Amino acid sequence: MEVALVNSSEKCGATSAGEPPCWEQLQELRDLFQEEVLRGLEKDRILLQQDKMACIGQLAAGVAHEINNPMGFIMSNLGSLKEYVENLTQYIQVLEVMLDRFCPPEQKGHVGVLRERLDIAFICDDVGSLVRESQDGANRVKQIVLDLKDFARIDENMVRESDLNQCIRRTTNIVKNELKYVAQLDLQLGDLPPVYCNSQQINQVVTNLLVNAAQSITGTGTITVKTWHEQSEVLIQIADTGSGISPEIVKRIFEPFFTTKPVGKGTGLGLTITYDIIRKHNGSITVESELGRGTTFTVRLPINQGEEDV
Ligand SMILES: Nc1ncnc2c1ncn2[C@@H]1O[C@H](COP(=O)(O)OP(=O)(O)OP(=O)(O)O)[C@@H](O)[C@H]1O
Ligand SMILES: [Mg+2]
Repeated sequence: MEVALVNSSEKCGATSAGEPPCWEQLQELRDLFQEEVLRGLEKDRILLQQDKMACIGQLAAGVAHEINNPMGFIMSNLGSLKEYVENLTQYIQVLEVMLDRFCPPEQKGHVGVLRERLDIAFICDDVGSLVRESQDGANRVKQIVLDLKDFARIDENMVRESDLNQCIRRTTNIVKNELKYVAQLDLQLGDLPPVYCNSQQINQVVTNLLVNAAQSITGTGTITVKTWHEQSEVLIQIADTGSGISPEIVKRIFEPFFTTKPVGKGTGLGLTITYDIIRKHNGSITVESELGRGTTFTVRLPINQGEEDV
């Protein structure tokens, strides 16, 4: 069949045989085809993004595991070092008293010069706090590794009773670095019952919302994370004092690939995936925003939405 596509002012195209196909029908067919292709592409890209997250999770879990082993002996050595340093400084103090009392003046002079040159007084003073600070640092690394392991929990990608406040604390610990130069983080976490959810996916939701909030702030601002409990639901609210979103744009933010960020900074999938995760949990997500003042996202999750995989 030969079809001549004519412009819309001419309703039908000419054919050499049979009924001429209607121009409008052809257009409808073409639109349907385009929609199907686009939907397929979107699905592929979302799957790709989820695969990417799973790969990152796997990598993070591997790195966390590798860091865990050397951290074990660093922590234990620092514990012994602290004890040794305390013993040594105590011993030096006693020696100094003895030197002062019993050493002949000439030798005392030599020891005094050496003491000055090696800065012994300062070392004795400083060494304790150096070890303490190193222990604090090592404890922080240990905590980050724990958070990373929890964040990347790829082996338990299923619905189970979860402590959402714990998820939020761990997630904020992970993204803290991204936030610290632009925003002060205010956590107002209320009492929550355990919630049946896929905690790894909820981590992903909180990460997406926190990163968006941080990226909306020029200069410095505040990001407030609140949680509370209402009847059979828990609520998570993430509010920023960033740029806000205009009413025309707010309608489109959950669309796949919709982004206002420069190429390379945003793919426009963060909120699409977020929406999808919340929908699969039978929850809802709403947004309130005012240009120039900031944006608030509110997520509602049912406490008990069954034990099926999400
Ligand atoms: N807290 C916010 N403040 C201001 N605008 C926001 C906020 N959150 C989302 N947006 C707007 O919604 C758009 C879509 O967000 P989404 O997270 O889906 O994609 P993205 O952040 O642009 O890219 P990415 O895929 O890296 O997340 C953003 O480009 C931005 O214009
Ligand atoms: Mg985003």
